[in-house]
Amino acid sequence: MDNSGQAGSGRPDRASAVWEARNERDTAELARRLAGLARPGTVLALDGDLGAGKTRFSQAFAEALGVKDVVNSPTFTIIKEYEGERMPFYHMDVYRLSPEEAEELGLDDYFFGDGATIVEWASLIRELLPDERLEIEIEHAGDDARRIVLTGIGQPYASWCATIGQIGDDKHER
Ligand SMILES: Nc1ncnc2c1ncn2[C@@H]1O[C@H](COP(=O)(O)OP(=O)(O)OP(=O)(O)O)[C@@H](O)[C@H]1O
Ligand SMILES: [Mg+2]
Repeated sequence: MDNSGQAGSGRPDRASAVWEARNERDTAELARRLAGLARPGTVLALDGDLGAGKTRFSQAFAEALGVKDVVNSPTFTIIKEYEGERMPFYHMDVYRLSPEEAEELGLDDYFFGDGATIVEWASLIRELLPDERLEIEIEHAGDDARRIVLTGIGQPYASWCATIGQIGDDKHER
């Protein structure tokens, strides 16, 4: 874990963790665990190549929030809102948006709203993201394996990385 950026509170305000997914189920497990930590206003900023698993991750996250509807890729609709038993889920895919177009959407209403948000291709609109967020980079690691790098910026996201990093380490010892 990277503890750089120690804040005055004594808790780091930036930390990272790596989750080695051997298959799709491991990716879904990470998503479920993060959904367990989520609360209204949570923002997950996802990046990764085409087909890396951003939407697959989002589906498992939504399911764990208690979303009953089918969660599809929002590439053409840009933003989809879902009711979840625990809280609403806002799913965005900004691949086809220019930063100017994105700015007009008023994304802050979602980011600081009543639900949890996932942004696919988030780095394309980095300047519009909230300062505090969990960045998630999904990298291909051969066949169905994925290397998922989490960077928590601000609290509670930095603490989440410590939690997830610990679980990930234990997982490999099993
Ligand atoms: N470990 C894994 N994690 C996630 N998806 C996996 C994994 N292994 C295989 N897959 C498969 O990879 C594909 C990921 O597709 P998905 O639509 O989630 O990617 P994406 O990153 O959202 O792509 P896009 O950039 O086109 O939106 C799915 O077909 C899924 O079944
Ligand atoms: Mg997708």
